[in-house]
Amino acid sequence: MMLTTIGLMSGTSLDGVDVALIETDGKRIQAFGPSGYRPYTERERGVLRQALAEAVHLPERDARPGVLAEAERIVTLAHAEAVSSFRAQNRIACEDIDIVGFHGQTVLHRPDRRLTVQIGDAAALAKTIHIPVMYDFRAADVAAGGQGAPFVPVYHRALAQSLQREGPMVVVNIGGVSNITYIDGADTLIACDTGPGNALLDDFMFRMTGQRFDCEGRMAAQGAADEAWVARALEHPFFALPPPKSLDRNDFASLTLHEKSPADGAATLTALTAAAIARIVPLLPKVPRSWVVAGGGARNLTMVRMLRERLAPATVEAADALGWSADAIEAQAFGFLAARGLKGLPLSYPATTGVPIPMTGGVIARP
Ligand SMILES: Nc1ncnc2c1ncn2[C@@H]1O[C@H](COP(=O)(O)OP(=O)(O)O)[C@@H](O)[C@H]1O
Ligand SMILES: [Mg+2]
Repeated sequence: MMLTTIGLMSGTSLDGVDVALIETDGKRIQAFGPSGYRPYTERERGVLRQALAEAVHLPERDARPGVLAEAERIVTLAHAEAVSSFRAQNRIACEDIDIVGFHGQTVLHRPDRRLTVQIGDAAALAKTIHIPVMYDFRAADVAAGGQGAPFVPVYHRALAQSLQREGPMVVVNIGGVSNITYIDGADTLIACDTGPGNALLDDFMFRMTGQRFDCEGRMAAQGAADEAWVARALEHPFFALPPPKSLDRNDFASLTLHEKSPADGAATLTALTAAAIARIVPLLPKVPRSWVVAGGGARNLTMVRMLRERLAPATVEAADALGWSADAIEAQAFGFLAARGLKGLPLSYPATTGVPIPMTGGVIARP
């Protein structure tokens, strides 16, 4: 049975809420619908940043001490607004949507402590938007000993199946953190986080220039990457670990660049993201033939150029060049995962998150 789903994603970049509609039975993608975006305001983003800082000390996933309660209200409200303007813009009635997949905002990801915390009140959201909401996708995986991330690989596999190209291919998602899905034929699906995505670069740009990100990679394009610094950063033990493995947004926040101009610093951090992605190649079963880049990082032309240089002779294409939407993929993925959760299909596998057995997940909140 085909379902009409809306997926909602608010990633580690803290930029805003992505919304996307797809029709799917949880196995195939029948049709892509429209997508939308609801950015956080500066004030909201400030509260979320503070929530991430305070969440470091969270003892358990349901606690909302201090600023976390306000941050949760902001997340719920922003998602409700995202759905209502999306429905209005595209003239979609709530009865036409079978399920909403609500990721929430990760404020702490510590699989080693069997703890991953996504804030956002799914029950309140379901009541406000009058649509059933599936949430807490990562919890069952982490409780069972999995990494709880990445969760997009099953969706990447469904996308790749429709391409029918010769493997192995990799889809790399460059959000706040970067993650890859390695696909080889119908049976091999391997995934992991690879290291920093845009978060370190965004933080650096904000500190040095007041801009939230390096638009199209223009700042980095004017600078020179400090390759010695990149090589030293790659000595962090995380990079030598085989997949599956995952990261918290702030795991590399201690990597500091000293005395660099904005251009050289941006070039160096962009190079680190590209190098960390390329560093996964020797840890994969075969060298990939082709790479597809998605997430906000796909819009950073310097990032894509550096990836091409480091991954040659493999091909590197932006997701949009294939008719996919780099911006909407993750939101689409959570609609897809909601359909899978409803049907009890696995959301994660031993080779994507390290969970001992294929694992379904998600909890439903009804309006
Ligand atoms: N036009 C652009 N040029 C360069 N980078 C961009 C552009 N648009 C978005 N980005 C980057 O992408 C990030 C958002 O990516 P996204 O895929 O939403 O990540 P997340 O899933 O972590 O929220 C921004 O913080 C920024 O670093
Ligand atoms: Mg985002």
